[in-house]
Amino acid sequence: MVVEEKVRRSLRGAQGRPDVTTERAAIGGGEAVLFARGLTKVYRMGEVDVVALRGIDVELFRGEFVVLLGASGSGKSTLLNILGGLDVPTSGEVRYCDHDLSAAAESTLTRYRREHVGFVFQFYNLIPSLTARENVALVTDIAEAPIAPEDALSLVGLAERMDHFPSELSGGEQQRVAIARAIAKRPDLVLCDEPTGALDYRTGQIVLEVLSRVNRELGATTAVITHNAPIAQMADRIIEMSDGRIRSVRENAAKLSPADLRW
Ligand SMILES: Nc1ncnc2c1ncn2[C@@H]1O[C@H](COP(=O)(O)OP(=O)(O)OP(=O)(O)O)[C@@H](O)[C@H]1O
Ligand SMILES: [Mg+2]
Repeated sequence: MVVEEKVRRSLRGAQGRPDVTTERAAIGGGEAVLFARGLTKVYRMGEVDVVALRGIDVELFRGEFVVLLGASGSGKSTLLNILGGLDVPTSGEVRYCDHDLSAAAESTLTRYRREHVGFVFQFYNLIPSLTARENVALVTDIAEAPIAPEDALSLVGLAERMDHFPSELSGGEQQRVAIARAIAKRPDLVLCDEPTGALDYRTGQIVLEVLSRVNRELGATTAVITHNAPIAQMADRIIEMSDGRIRSVRENAAKLSPADLRW
């Protein structure tokens, strides 16, 4: 496990990050990295208003792993997009640490996304003509204190596949490249919208193991949307949405490892 130890050291060392264990101990009573109050979102479709969020109060705490559940159309992606600065609410307040995102200019949101947020989507959005390493380097080239593409790919278990093109990788491997790309800038937040949605169960488990490992080792606050309720068993907290509202927020006392999940 020489590579892993090297990656771990480079992750911890380069920015003198606070000890991850201490941060994780603060979950629950901890610091809210994201804070939202009274969020609403209305999409205007010609004459018709589609209400996607009907008043959301939510926090994400530093270092935690949250799973977001809810029926199709309940507003999960809309909420995640607003938290990640891809969209703005119609009304309500959303803050990242001390920064107000609800009234931010597009340029501020762009900077917020670039510096602080790593996104992972159902479809991997890799550039087909670039290798795994080059896909990750696209991000690290413009980041301030990135993880080297090689280290990010090692962290997701792809040390041996760095020079492969997306077409030479399986779906699960492509998703791991997408995760390496999302985390290589050392984001404070990793936001994932159905990251296992296109994968079979076993491959999905591997991807969840990678997300769990990244959460542990980088300390990045991680939120994962899924339709597979059993996946929630790996979370610190489980947020359930229905019809544009948060129906429940639960702490998960008996956290399972992804390898023990069945869905
Ligand atoms: N760009 C858009 N324009 C108009 N309506 C939208 C838009 N995006 C989402 N909606 C509507 O807002 C509501 C919430 O959608 P959202 O995509 O957030 O749900 P979701 O919980 O992510 O669903 P799924 O599980 O199917 O991905 C739905 O009624 C949807 O049709
Ligand atoms: Mg969605």
